[in-house]
Amino acid sequence: MMRLRPLVLCVLLALAVAYYVYTPLPENIQEPWKLMVVSAGLRTSLHLASLIHWLGCDHYIRSIRQLSDSFPGLTNVGDSNESGGGVVPGVKVSDTTFAGVPVRVYEPPAGGEGHLRRGLMYFRGGDWFLGGVERPSNDALNHMISDELNTVVVSVEYRLPPDVHFPVPFVDCLTAAKHFLSPEVLAKYSIDPERVAVAGASLGGNLAAAVAQEISTDDSISVKFSIQALIYPMLQALDFNTPSYWQNQDVPLLYRPFVVSFWLQYLGADTSLQPQLLVNNHSSPHNSAITRELRARYDWTVLLPFKHKKNHKPVMTKKGSPGLLKEVPALLDVRASPLLAGTEVLAKCPRTYVITCENDVLRDDGLMYARRLQDTGVTVTNVHYEEGFHGCFSFTVWPLEFDVGRRAVRGYINWLQNNL
Ligand SMILES: *[C@@H]1O[C@H](CO)[C@@H](O)[C@H](O)[C@H]1NC(C)=O
Ligand SMILES: *[C@@H]1O[C@H](CO)[C@@H](O)[C@H](O)[C@H]1NC(C)=O
Repeated sequence: MMRLRPLVLCVLLALAVAYYVYTPLPENIQEPWKLMVVSAGLRTSLHLASLIHWLGCDHYIRSIRQLSDSFPGLTNVGDSNESGGGVVPGVKVSDTTFAGVPVRVYEPPAGGEGHLRRGLMYFRGGDWFLGGVERPSNDALNHMISDELNTVVVSVEYRLPPDVHFPVPFVDCLTAAKHFLSPEVLAKYSIDPERVAVAGASLGGNLAAAVAQEISTDDSISVKFSIQALIYPMLQALDFNTPSYWQNQDVPLLYRPFVVSFWLQYLGADTSLQPQLLVNNHSSPHNSAITRELRARYDWTVLLPFKHKKNHKPVMTKKGSPGLLKEVPALLDVRASPLLAGTEVLAKCPRTYVITCENDVLRDDGLMYARRLQDTGVTVTNVHYEEGFHGCFSFTVWPLEFDVGRRAVRGYINWLQNNL
């Protein structure tokens, strides 16, 4: 009897762990157990962050960032160890500022004298929730692109919520971009002005799209980005009930309620508005602030192919809360929601690469933007990963690597090779 008790405890503990880790996943997810473990780790961070926030010790998002930094086995690669994972010896890395904005510059080993190189400005993504995974994988990616494609990569350390709110992150990125595109800076780094790209993932994809729009339409800037690459970008905050928001609301790693809260945080609004945004009360059809023309710019019933619409119905409350858009006017700001830009702006955007993932709440944001850019005559390559999930692009460094993440990164590098 005495010897049985530890065994029973072990079995119960194992069952409890399995119950906690197990998450039903869509069939097309490869390596499902790995994703479940990552997701359990993330959920634990979210719960702990809530607890820390509730105890009044620190802000929710800041706690998530700190907790995610402590993902096991990941902090030993990247900045802390210059000879760690993915680091290419010949690439010169330096931390500096572009017009006051902190950036990290990766310069390729070859080239230099007389040889012009490519340039790439990169806006990192959800640092606030996957920092410990993202930072080392970004660092490895930037090294790889710099080395393989003979490119000067500039990674922008823009400020994030909760320390700042929109428009500060956008302004940081735009400021750094204008500085980068100035003829003197391009000359200093021996960059060909005809071959400069802007790219970003998730929130970084949002910023890349918004900055590209701003640069493309600003006549005072002579050098423009020649391409933009958007990796599962978040692009609008007026409809949180697109088919992908519904289909993937419980799919890791980006849960629907969390995205809505993040948007409110990003825009500096009260997160208690989350339940209203979840049911689209801010964008009801009777809201006169949203003209028919504006609505058409994010109308998925028109912009998505049947394959993705399936039999989903738009969610629109009759009356809603029209006051919400007055309370949070940034919900209508194109610099926060690049999908809302007019065709005259989209038509000036550079050649575009968009990565979308089937198992991602943001899938339809990316699909709609690709479609609208295409409709205005921009050349768009939209690569859709059926097995992809939000964040997969960052899972390329051992031990947290996914096959679909590696393929997405490889496809992106190949596209840059051929188009930049
Ligand atoms: C960095 O990592 C390498 C290999 O992973 C290891 O041999 C080296 O001791 C590490 N250096 C520091 C300073 O941690
Ligand atoms: C959404 O607006 C309707 C009024 O049209 C209101 O009855 C409902 O309570 C609101 N929903 C939420 C979650 O606030």
